Amino acid sequence: MTATSSRPGPALGSSVTSTGDGWVNPLRDPRDKRLPRIAGPCGLVIFGVTGDLSCKKLTPAIYDLANRGLLPPGFSLVGFARRDWAHEDFGRVVHDAVRAHARTPFRQAVWDRLAEGIRFVQGTFDDDAAFDRLEATVAELDRLRGTGGNHAFYLAIPPSSFPVVCKQLARSGLSRHNGEAWRRVVIEKPFGHDLRSARELNQIVGDVFPEDAVFRIDHYLGKETVQNILALRFANQLFEPIWNCNYVDHVQITMAEDIGLEGRAGYYDGIGAARDVIQNHLMQLLALTTMEEPTAFTAEELRAEKLKVLRATRLVGPLEETTARGQYTGGWQGGRWVRGLKEEAGFDPNSKTETFAAITVAVDTRRWAGVPFYLRTGKRLARRVTEIAVVFKRAPHLPFDATMTEELGHNALVIRIQPDEGVTMRFGAKVPGTAMEVRDVTMDFGYGTAFTESSPEAYERLILDVLLGEPSLFPTDAEVERSWEILDPVLDYWAGLPEGPDPYPAGSWGPESANRMLARTGRCWRRP
Ligand code: BG6
Repeated sequence: MTATSSRPGPALGSSVTSTGDGWVNPLRDPRDKRLPRIAGPCGLVIFGVTGDLSCKKLTPAIYDLANRGLLPPGFSLVGFARRDWAHEDFGRVVHDAVRAHARTPFRQAVWDRLAEGIRFVQGTFDDDAAFDRLEATVAELDRLRGTGGNHAFYLAIPPSSFPVVCKQLARSGLSRHNGEAWRRVVIEKPFGHDLRSARELNQIVGDVFPEDAVFRIDHYLGKETVQNILALRFANQLFEPIWNCNYVDHVQITMAEDIGLEGRAGYYDGIGAARDVIQNHLMQLLALTTMEEPTAFTAEELRAEKLKVLRATRLVGPLEETTARGQYTGGWQGGRWVRGLKEEAGFDPNSKTETFAAITVAVDTRRWAGVPFYLRTGKRLARRVTEIAVVFKRAPHLPFDATMTEELGHNALVIRIQPDEGVTMRFGAKVPGTAMEVRDVTMDFGYGTAFTESSPEAYERLILDVLLGEPSLFPTDAEVERSWEILDPVLDYWAGLPEGPDPYPAGSWGPESANRMLARTGRCWRRP
């Protein structure tokens, strides 16, 4: 069975035509929240423009926003890096990145308009003169392109460089705005490597920018399917009455990746899967799954509810039984042999970095008392899938012969974050025939078939929200710190073990210890 949108065809915002010129259908009521939100006059400065993130995600997303008519006509993009580039060189780099990675079709007119606002400033982070040039460039853009003094600074750089860049933004006056204008800072993860370092970073950033000007990126929150968790829970009557410990047996949050870590040793070795993914993406998914209904759908209320539930979240021990970590070794994946982590270029051959991590947490509230939440993530697993599986208790009584329900499992509601975005419900149904045999079946909603609109990339949504000053999808300093506080004891426990992570072959579902972790309570991981 498949669910489809009851409003097929172009639906939300369909009567608004995005021409690339920011043209909006004047017949629509401007109070209509479905109208696309268009950023006012502004510019974006990116630090780290020569990195992968800028090339694969940020600059293509900026083009896609321009193509959808969501950027102001005078929008300006400034790149800051060490390379000896002229504006045109940087323009060519952005052009090539857009051609290679943009989601929407390439349109020359849109590109030409965007290219007019592209500038490059050469320099290093400790070079005062370079930041003075940057300040002059931004001021010139205000004069020539009407950016109105509104600028966001995107730190797509390692956290070790945050302090010096923040200091330079303050020294050069770039962090300060005049009158109604705004200045914002966008920070990529990793936001620290434990609670202490996260606090220090928050302090450093907070000395320069007020909290409402700080946008911490967790790109999972920009995904449509992640936002759909709230729609599913709070726009329906169907799910919320059973979304609690009376009905839910346990919840599994899985982020499995089939890719390995080739080329990422510099970032990943010594960091590992728990810091890379559990502290941020999975904790946020947990918060959205478990939080109470916000009193209003505003940033303040949403963030308050997330923080509240994170404060009620704690690790379940003993950690030697309730956590697992692994490291991939060579193995067959997708029909080809792939190397183990220790053989990947740049990794220490004795590396103890985990590429698989799983933890058990509880949420100490009336709603969730006694329900375990299992969070797992790994690289080089059997397939790429991110999902939240809410697994329900069995019916209290089955009036059937026991042999008739042997193939009946737990009911489950599975939110598929990616790929194949959608929601699946699993329940028992009668097998056709004369016997009253019951077997598991699934009912499916798929984004791809239910809606004609294609989903924007997470970075499109998040960059637009930064430019609009809409903070709902950005974790606060308190959320980030609380997530570290939850995770830190696991990191300390693992760091103190004499042995490294358990090996698991590439292409498998992780180490045996992960299976034991659930088996101790009679449960098992789903095979998504
Ligand atoms: C990043 C992690 O935050 O998310 C990566 O640092 C991971 O290790 C990536 O591969 C996954 O993102 P997505 O959107 O492809 O699921």
